[in-house]
Amino acid sequence: MFGFFKKKEAKKRVDFNYSSVLVDLHSHVLPGIDDGAQTPEESIVLIKKMMELGIKKIIATPHVMIDYYRNDYKSISNALAILKEELKNQNIDIDISAAAEHYFDESFEKRIDDRLVFTMGDNYVLFEISFISQPSNLIQVIQKMLDMGYKPILAHPERYNYMDVEQLKQIRMMGCNLQLNTISLTGYYGKPTKTLAEELVDNQMVDFISSDMHHPRHAQALEDALKLPYLRKLLFNYPLKNELLK
Ligand SMILES: [Fe+2]
Repeated sequence: MFGFFKKKEAKKRVDFNYSSVLVDLHSHVLPGIDDGAQTPEESIVLIKKMMELGIKKIIATPHVMIDYYRNDYKSISNALAILKEELKNQNIDIDISAAAEHYFDESFEKRIDDRLVFTMGDNYVLFEISFISQPSNLIQVIQKMLDMGYKPILAHPERYNYMDVEQLKQIRMMGCNLQLNTISLTGYYGKPTKTLAEELVDNQMVDFISSDMHHPRHAQALEDALKLPYLRKLLFNYPLKNELLK
């Protein structure tokens, strides 16, 4: 009798996945150009896992950072082509494209001025800021993006532990979207990040969720997250915008 219920419960868990989210807009699955997957084989392991968890479309976002990862149109399109070839060879059918995760360094504002930022969907631009302190010109540069017709998305706001909900509320009210790393809710990045992630969910401040997938440990955490009550909160009756990017 109990065995029967256990089986039913297990089935229920498998049914509940990220298929309603459709699009994963932040991951490091392009091979060999940042700190994510290093080879097409490593990329495929991560992509298969994302597909297994219900993701229908992947927008890969390699780091663009002047000090560490000097990616440009050429390096990103090359890596995407290599990966697509490997996916084809292995008969894996997934909608995959590329944009970037721009780091807010001294080159970022110039990239915007020169319209050299990578966009996804209807002019969305994914960017991250320092984990140590808030850039002094953050508000000004967000305003510039908006004035130029870009739709900024701040990556993993819950990971900037110098920020609180009120500061993030102000940024969001300007028109900047907030993208939560789903795995933050598992405690993967520590307690303060988990707490801020939960506060953002509770205050309906999460515009997009994504994996920020770099390696198999992230893939495992993404699966583990599905067991959390907070995931149910996010995936049912929550105004997520992921599907705008499909
Ligand atoms: Fe990232």
